[in-house]
Amino acid sequence: MRNLIQEFGLVTGASGFLGKKHCETVLENGQNLLMIDIKKKELFKFKKTLEKKFPNQIIESYNLDITQAKNIKKIRKEFDKNKYLVTLIINNACIDSKPNTNSKNSYKKILKSWDKEFDVSLKASYLIIENFTDKMKMLKKGKIINIASDLSLIAPNQKIYKNVYNNFKKPITYSIIKHGVIGLTKYYAAELGKYNISCNAISPSGVFNNHNKKFVKNLTGLIPMERMASINDIVELMRFLISGKQNYINGQNIVIDGGRTII
Ligand SMILES: NC(=O)c1ccc[n+]([C@@H]2O[C@H](COP(=O)([O-])OP(=O)(O)OC[C@H]3O[C@@H](n4cnc5c(N)ncnc54)[C@H](O)[C@@H]3O)[C@@H](O)[C@H]2O)c1
Repeated sequence: MRNLIQEFGLVTGASGFLGKKHCETVLENGQNLLMIDIKKKELFKFKKTLEKKFPNQIIESYNLDITQAKNIKKIRKEFDKNKYLVTLIINNACIDSKPNTNSKNSYKKILKSWDKEFDVSLKASYLIIENFTDKMKMLKKGKIINIASDLSLIAPNQKIYKNVYNNFKKPITYSIIKHGVIGLTKYYAAELGKYNISCNAISPSGVFNNHNKKFVKNLTGLIPMERMASINDIVELMRFLISGKQNYINGQNIVIDGGRTII
């Protein structure tokens, strides 16, 4: 008899650079996909591309702000109605100041966006985990993957931006948030492990995305493998983590950085 319950992988920040790849990895892993992003046009365009590539899987998309509890509850309600079940959560969304914004008035800028940055990375992950794990607990099955960064382990080296991006300085918020993601990961790994739900973090160093040549030189000079991460490096790690071939990694911060954080 056909299983009436449809299993989904949930990806936040689904229309971003890495989010898109996480979406494809979930579908390639045979799960249905729940994609959420605040960027409407990009989300729906990408959904159409995925529907063509994966015609036999269900793809649900929500153009919502994940920091609002009512939005997460709405998705959950609609999922319950359709007998859809989330068994994988990838908390990927983040507000990461782009290096083309200069540091002038950084104090004021940081204060202005402080709450939102914290909410997108930490509160939203909390909301999603709390709203979608009760069924996982009943089923005794689930995986949570939180996307952190090498800046969950080290402080930013501001020299890599100097004289490249208009004197950009990586703001303190990103550092605090990414360290916070590790706390969140350990908390839920301890809490949910007994239900056979694992919770881990991935910490990539910079993933190459046509960055400025001088910036690449500055950064790769700090990396033992002398290159930035490729998007494929991240895909392969995600594929391994969600594959179901391993079910005993829990509470870890899996660092994928070419050795950046060891020196
Ligand atoms: N790209 C890298 O080199 C790199 C390196 C290390 C870690 N990371 C981490 O990987 C993750 C993805 O990075 P990326 O480079 O793809 O970033 P990105 O900016 O391309 O994507 C982030 C996505 O999150 C979405 N988002 C932001 N606020 C939202 C909200 N309130 N509600 C719903 N969606 C919202 C954005 O619209 C965007 O599509 C982030 O957590 C980032 O910190 C990235």
